[in-house]
Amino acid sequence: MKGIVLAGGAGSRLYPMTQVMTKQLQSVYDKPMIYYPLSILMLGGIKDILLITTPDDQPLFQKLLGDGSKFGIKLSYKIQEKPNGLPEAFVLGEDFIGDDDVCLILGDNLFYGDLNFFRDAIKAQKEKHGGLEGRVFAYYVADPRAYGVVEFDKATKKVKTLEEKPEHPKSNYAVPGLYLFDNTVARRAKNLKPSPRGETEIVDLMLSYHNEDKLGVAMMYRGLAWLDTGTPRSLLDASTFIGAIEERQGLKVACLEEISYRQKFINLDELKRIANALPKCSYRTYLEKIIAEES
Ligand code: G1P
Repeated sequence: MKGIVLAGGAGSRLYPMTQVMTKQLQSVYDKPMIYYPLSILMLGGIKDILLITTPDDQPLFQKLLGDGSKFGIKLSYKIQEKPNGLPEAFVLGEDFIGDDDVCLILGDNLFYGDLNFFRDAIKAQKEKHGGLEGRVFAYYVADPRAYGVVEFDKATKKVKTLEEKPEHPKSNYAVPGLYLFDNTVARRAKNLKPSPRGETEIVDLMLSYHNEDKLGVAMMYRGLAWLDTGTPRSLLDASTFIGAIEERQGLKVACLEEISYRQKFINLDELKRIANALPKCSYRTYLEKIIAEES
């Protein structure tokens, strides 16, 4: 399974904050936002990851993350010239995906909690369990109007409708920015027509699987946190949420070096080398604490 993080977009709802620096590099409590989606892919065991950015932001991401080796992963980069829609990620990533399955996560989506739902979906996707070739998730929210919305048939529990940002949502189930598809996804993405807002829509891509009975929609249970970072308020809420958990437990959320070590992508010596290369800061102290515990 390959991974793609889509970190393009203008971030216009966060102007002027995003005028010089993209949203996905802004801080969520104590680390850049991009760490959070990357951590989810890594926790799913995905090590080969393509990061898609705007032309201006690519050097900044490269400065921060390099080739991924310090996190025990392989990172490659691609540019999305214009925000032409989320499905373009698969067109840009066609060669990268090759014969594999792929998991797309949006660079501004944060998840916190037990990720068994995700690991199960990865396993099922690899096996094409139930004849399904695409898998997405449904998460109950108070106001789903800013999202893709899925409606289930009451009797059969099957997907009834899928709509992008409906003014009058038919359910409270939003589709978060975490998608698993097989390698027909690039071909399907190329065939999509732009919606009235001038972009191709991820919902249309999901529908192309659904219309062939090849889309599975699994519930993200309510104990899981899915946080949005699209507005100043939701960005602050995400920081406060992560800060509260980290301070209470003394454990970091989305510390990529720690995840890499615990996933056995790197060993203790490599973790030591990484920690020693950091300036004196609480992040380094945290890694040193792990190293002491593990030695
Ligand atoms: C995108 C998708 C939408 C999805 C959302 C999740 O919207 O188009 O279907 O629910 O991400 O964050 P955007 O936030 O890019 O407008």
